[in-house]
Amino acid sequence: MQEIAEFFRRAGKTVGFVPTMGFLHEGHVALMLAARDECDVVIASIFVNPTQFLPNEDFEQYPRDFLRDFYICKQAGVDYIFNPSAEEMYGANFKTYVNVDDLSEKLEGKYRPGHFKGVSTVVMKLFNICKPHYSYFGQKDAQQVSVLKKTVKDLNLDTELRICDTIREDNGLAKSSRNTYLSEQQKEDAAVINKSLQSAKEKVLANSFTDAEEVKREMIEMIEIKAGEGSVQYIAVTDNELLNDIEDLKNFKGDVLVSLAVYFGKTRLIDNILFTKK
Ligand code: PAF
Repeated sequence: MQEIAEFFRRAGKTVGFVPTMGFLHEGHVALMLAARDECDVVIASIFVNPTQFLPNEDFEQYPRDFLRDFYICKQAGVDYIFNPSAEEMYGANFKTYVNVDDLSEKLEGKYRPGHFKGVSTVVMKLFNICKPHYSYFGQKDAQQVSVLKKTVKDLNLDTELRICDTIREDNGLAKSSRNTYLSEQQKEDAAVINKSLQSAKEKVLANSFTDAEEVKREMIEMIEIKAGEGSVQYIAVTDNELLNDIEDLKNFKGDVLVSLAVYFGKTRLIDNILFTKK
């Protein structure tokens, strides 16, 4: 893969890269099409990365279907699929990790300690292997985006991140490979996540909410009607760079990120909304 990527770079071609864990959906396709639009060569990786799953998480259960993914990539105009094994990526004596301190421990990191260390490490490896000029990520994983932007900046990586909008079902539920775990009823009910985010945005922009606690209270109320009491794991109202909490919403100016994790039954869903307060 490195030789192929290097060949194209030397030939003056722009290399676009879409890292994925497979079981592709329209969200991934949107990233691939953006890469196809902008770059001469498009590489997608399909690798369910073991180091970003906690021991009690769904690594074994994570949906996999290479043949289906292969045809989706082909249709989206991907030129190369990089599909390594865990042994190839990590081997028996793997010792080197990348971690973005602080940022990786916030929000998701509080509940999934070690997750972003696994993400930054594998993405750094994938960048070194696929040598992209541009790499495409979805805004759905807002904290992943912040962590990777910081990795690229702090380690002077020679690649630019392109962040694409979250792709949603007709009812507003963010597309995710993990949606396959949901029943039809849960998929319908989970529309409330995006509704609560939209309502938070409208009210913050209208200055109807003065502090983050009010935002959280309304969102929890809305979501728990559908998902049940205690289903909301966290809601955070933060800036979009270092993910610091915004307390005084009324006087805050800049990008506001409202993000959350919610359980629908055993399935943990994340989502967010990003907007600018002037
Ligand atoms: O967003 C994902 O699917 C994964 O976290 C990524 C970026 C492919 C790294 O394994």
